[in-house]
Amino acid sequence: MEKLNGKRVVVAGASGGIGSHLSKLLRQSGAEVFMTGRNAEKLAAAADNAGVPEDHCFVADISVEAEVALLGSRVAQIMGTPDILVNAAGVGIIKQIENLTLEDFNRSLQTNLVGTFLLVKAFLPGMKEVKKGLIINIPGVLGKVPMAGAAAYSASKYGIVGMMQSIREELKRTEIRITNIFMGGVDSPFWDTIDLKVQKEKMIREEEAARSIWFLCQQPASGVVSEMVLQPFNHQAI
Ligand SMILES: NC(=O)c1ccc[n+]([C@@H]2O[C@H](COP(=O)([O-])OP(=O)(O)OC[C@H]3O[C@@H](n4cnc5c(N)ncnc54)[C@H](OP(=O)(O)O)[C@@H]3O)[C@@H](O)[C@H]2O)c1
Repeated sequence: MEKLNGKRVVVAGASGGIGSHLSKLLRQSGAEVFMTGRNAEKLAAAADNAGVPEDHCFVADISVEAEVALLGSRVAQIMGTPDILVNAAGVGIIKQIENLTLEDFNRSLQTNLVGTFLLVKAFLPGMKEVKKGLIINIPGVLGKVPMAGAAAYSASKYGIVGMMQSIREELKRTEIRITNIFMGGVDSPFWDTIDLKVQKEKMIREEEAARSIWFLCQQPASGVVSEMVLQPFNHQAI
């Protein structure tokens, strides 16, 4: 296993359920963590809880190119090229197709897919210069299997998988790893705005979801974990 001590890690979605727990675990393992999220108050609270200093936090909307560019500059200034980028930012809009608006569809794609693209554009060039790095995405189970009501969400998440698999082809002469984690339901604020009956008590706990990513951050130097699946017992879709 690779040691996390001293590793430079950028966590996008660090104000969220999974990202905030992950940031804390990484800090506890001695990593230098840079946290980004959209809501300044939530980000500050998560950073405080994780023991990450204020200058290692930056508020940015990943769906906006100029904001991700500013994020990239700030990270470069504060810690240089990250060893690891974890994209734990995303929105879940789950509606039957007749209720799904173009705005819902665009927002899903713009945040989950275009946001991932912009983060990769911001951090991959530095990794390519040093020919190593790790990018972890969370397409989730709905990036691999369908679900009623998930047309927009799955379009964005399947898109991440296709995009990252193509980028992986471009990186075979480097030691830049790309890991996609297909996670099932995690009990996090993600579900708060989704109008579905869910059994939160049967979901994966957000701390445990974060621990699985923390584990992936330590994958062995001689290989790559290209995919991982983590699902609740009662909802094994893959
Ligand atoms: N929870 C699940 O069941 C589940 C299952 C499979 C995959 N996933 C994926 O796992 C990731 C993390 O989910 P979570 O459960 O931790 O959800 P969460 O608690 O709702 O956190 C979502 C995070 O994404 C950030 N975010 C949303 N839109 C953004 C934007 N435009 N720009 C920047 N940041 C943005 C939020 O920032 P603010 O709060 O600051 O706005 C927050 O930090 C998401 O990609 C989600 O699709 C979740």
